[in-house]
Amino acid sequence: RTEHRVYKITKVEQLTETIYLMDVVAPRVANKCLPGQFVIVRGSEDGERIPLTICDYSREDGTITIVFQVVGAATEMMKNKKAGDSFADFVGPLGCPSEFCKEDIEELKKKKILFVAGGVGTAPVYPQVKWLHEQGIEADVIVGGRNKSLIILEDKMKKVAGNLYITTDDGSYGSKGVVTNEIQKLVDAGNKYDVCVAIGPMIMMKFVCKLTKELEIPTVVSLNPIMVDGTGMCGACRVTVGGEVKFACVDGPEFDGHKVNFEEAMQRQQLYKTAEGRAFLAAKE
Ligand code: FES
Repeated sequence: RTEHRVYKITKVEQLTETIYLMDVVAPRVANKCLPGQFVIVRGSEDGERIPLTICDYSREDGTITIVFQVVGAATEMMKNKKAGDSFADFVGPLGCPSEFCKEDIEELKKKKILFVAGGVGTAPVYPQVKWLHEQGIEADVIVGGRNKSLIILEDKMKKVAGNLYITTDDGSYGSKGVVTNEIQKLVDAGNKYDVCVAIGPMIMMKFVCKLTKELEIPTVVSLNPIMVDGTGMCGACRVTVGGEVKFACVDGPEFDGHKVNFEEAMQRQQLYKTAEGRAFLAAKE
């Protein structure tokens, strides 16, 4: 360790009961990052590494906005941090930027793009929609959640989306139903999408892909499997895409959703939750 950096938190906002937003000073990451990329953070020196997609960035302020849901001990610890506290580690930008960033803007302008965001997956969708908006491209966005308390970043999204559609499974906000109902509705209403980007829980992405395959809309998903080193060495983030082994941290996190083996990805995610499961996976590989 040649240098000890401190990644100071400048803002903490509780978005819902379990979802938090933080601005963190990380000038080197803020300078380089593009939509679609992620960071791996550690709350303390010996803390667990948590991969988080970048929700927003300010090159001027040198800050990165992260959004996370409290799901276990490590994120529980993170949520107790206040403005002025810092992260021990903040590594990034990791992964490949979104495909859009590489495309010719004039070609991109001809495309009709639909984003489908589920719960905390709205965070990584936001910078992509914002980036497109800055290029003069207005994308349609569906944001869905189980209930109202899981709908986040609505105001920010409204400012950059062409049309914003909100759905909740229980009908507590927006239209009642799941995101796939909304996709079907939009297509039935005559919208012709050239590409769909779906980011959210694995199960949501699986069902979105099933539908968009039937509708013949090419679909990109952003996978957020368990990650450990984030450098392609440990194999924790292994996924199968089109029959080939890929590592989400270096080959992704975005993949062709119609080729992802979601069954396997979901099974691995479950197994990784327990020590026995991790040992089982380690023995198999
Ligand atoms: Fe270790 Fe991707 S996180 S290989």
